[in-house]
Amino acid sequence: MKFIKVKSYEEMSRQAANIISAQVILKPNCVLGLATGSTPIGTYKQLIEWYKKGDIDFSNTLSVNLDEYVGLDSNNDQSYRYFMENNFFKGINIKAQNTYVPCGIAKDLDKECKEYDENIKKLGGIDLQLLGIGIDGHIGFNEPADSFEKNTHIVDLHESTIEANSRFFADIADVPKKAITMGMVSIMQAKRILLIANGKNKEDILNKALFGPITPKIPASILQLHPDITVIYSEA
Ligand code: F6R
Repeated sequence: MKFIKVKSYEEMSRQAANIISAQVILKPNCVLGLATGSTPIGTYKQLIEWYKKGDIDFSNTLSVNLDEYVGLDSNNDQSYRYFMENNFFKGINIKAQNTYVPCGIAKDLDKECKEYDENIKKLGGIDLQLLGIGIDGHIGFNEPADSFEKNTHIVDLHESTIEANSRFFADIADVPKKAITMGMVSIMQAKRILLIANGKNKEDILNKALFGPITPKIPASILQLHPDITVIYSEA
């Protein structure tokens, strides 16, 4: 594991964007695994800036997102598809048909989960997976549980996650209670993993996840078993 501690959110974002742009330059048709949330926003901004300067070309790049709320469609400004369009995709030249986000309004959610995994396999797996971490140790929406969930699945969001994410909603009652999330197999089979975390409130869980026992009670702890993971942490 490569652990990089930096002084500011901007530096974390720039270093993360550096790793992602190097991946895209080395393999233009790579598959990027992407995350939402507040942590990666600066990374996406930086990548957009470099794209606009002509330094990166995403025209052959593919992306698969980690998760989506159940019940929110792509026009809902709290959906993760909407987030990705507005914080990243519309600022770069990635092709719409090359971007995959689980569909939270699929009629048959189990089928959607199965097809999401099949599609990742069909794409050849993920080259570089970007991750944030929840304060309870979740990655994607893999919440603390008695066992690690292997495949893309539907999850009941924990109270602490609903509370943490309520900052984006008008009312906590509006936060969906369920989500669809990639499971551990697709995440762990990514060739490389880049975990970013920002703020003092993430320090404790980051320490437990990266240096404590590996347990499904702290889903991110499984990352200790990945052979190629870089963690960038900014305490500011
Ligand atoms: C979102 C995701 C989540 C977030 C986590 C941290 O796609 O995968 O695991 O990374 O909830 O969220 P922020 O960055 O808002 O602290």
